[in-house]
Amino acid sequence: MNIDILLGLQWGDEGKGKIVDAISPDYDIIARFQGGPNAGHSLEFNNVKHVLHLIPSGIFHPEKVNIIGNGVVIDPAVFKKEIENLGPSVEELVKRLIISARANLILPGHRILDAAYEHSKGLTKIGSTLKGIGPAYTDKVARNGLRAGEILRNDFRDLYNQHLKSHLSILKNYDYNFDLNEYEAGWFEGIELMKKFRITNTEYLINDLISRGKKLLAEGAQGTMLDVDFGSYPFVTSSNTISAGACTGLGISPKKIGEVFGIFKAYCTRVGSGPFPTELNNQTGNILREKGYEFGSTTGRPRRCGWLDLPALKYAIMINGVTQLFMTKSDVMSGFDTIKVCISYRNAGKECPEIPFDSLPVEPVYKEIPGWKEDISGIREYGNLPLNLKNYIGFIEDQTGLRVTMVSVGPDREETIFRK
Ligand code: GDP
Ligand code: IMO
Ligand code: MG
Repeated sequence: MNIDILLGLQWGDEGKGKIVDAISPDYDIIARFQGGPNAGHSLEFNNVKHVLHLIPSGIFHPEKVNIIGNGVVIDPAVFKKEIENLGPSVEELVKRLIISARANLILPGHRILDAAYEHSKGLTKIGSTLKGIGPAYTDKVARNGLRAGEILRNDFRDLYNQHLKSHLSILKNYDYNFDLNEYEAGWFEGIELMKKFRITNTEYLINDLISRGKKLLAEGAQGTMLDVDFGSYPFVTSSNTISAGACTGLGISPKKIGEVFGIFKAYCTRVGSGPFPTELNNQTGNILREKGYEFGSTTGRPRRCGWLDLPALKYAIMINGVTQLFMTKSDVMSGFDTIKVCISYRNAGKECPEIPFDSLPVEPVYKEIPGWKEDISGIREYGNLPLNLKNYIGFIEDQTGLRVTMVSVGPDREETIFRK
């Protein structure tokens, strides 16, 4: 099989960017299939950290084709900033990056609507990244979207104005002040920059390359527990973050999918509102946040931290058909005498075997296991990891029935252990 998928099994920020970059040498094409600039994918090499929002994490490998697939929503203003701060010249990046003509655009009005909706929700807000994701996908599904291919039309400005008019008329119902002009100017500059890139029917390109034996890595954004169907609705994002999303978000058949790499942190984090059964609102949570530098890559917000949640992990494995597990941030867990892992949920004293559809609060049931104290960031051989960490991994493998084939011990590309 020539198509593999790497996706998050928790609430996002599992370390997808770092690992996609690290395994990009094994692929010819790296493609994002959903989400948009709500994503913040960090990767590090040569002591420099890069954070990507829209651009696939294979972009630093000059010989690779990077694709922004049809399932992604693109904000041209963010695209421009990202391209300009990346390092390689625009002329060089034009050779490495292709955009689907079918990808929907995030318009300036979508950003304002996102903020107005959140403002009106008050305490029940979702904690959106305020990048316009929800309103852009809403317009897509309502068949009102503007798509990347359309920026080449002569009447694009008229089309834009029609959309703006409808957004402004919705905004009249909200008590929300905004200033459109400044953002709009940068947005149109972004449109001009996008025109320099190849905007095409990427589904043909991808299927053609695959039929000629090329290998594709589909890079997920967000995480399974933020999926619009299977996540903790309504505290989710607006796309299908799961493996099925790679088929609809790139135009590929499920029959062509090979490996599904499920990535998870050795603990859990979440940004934004919504249930988080293993959340630690205490000193242990603070230690994880500080040691793991758990602050949002897109918004800078502190991430909520907690112990590993096995019922959620098993659910994510089931929904995605995960074939291999990748575990990140094991180095952050060094230093505890004992660590806890949630093995089941209880609700009102009763066993709760399934993830409740209505995001009901559940009580975690923990198993306590011995921790490890060594600094593991310099270790490159699985066999050299502390015994208690290997036992922790073994416990996760027993519980999930899957092998952990990669262990990440630091943010750098090199701080990665692949198990034979
Ligand atoms: P993504 O959205 O899944 O790509 O993840 P983010 O980039 O938002 O968040 C992951 C954070 O953890 C980033 O700051 C990474 O540089 C960092 N990171 C990734 N893997 C590791 C690891 O194994 N150990 C440590 N200490 N940091 C890691
Ligand atoms: P990466 O790809 C973590 C969260 C937001 C909010 C909810 C909805 O870096 O893992 P949205 O802006 O999508 O309408 O926000 O989803 N969220 C993320 N959390 N990592 C992400 O992406 C996220 N993208 C969105 O915090 O709770
Ligand atoms: Mg992130």
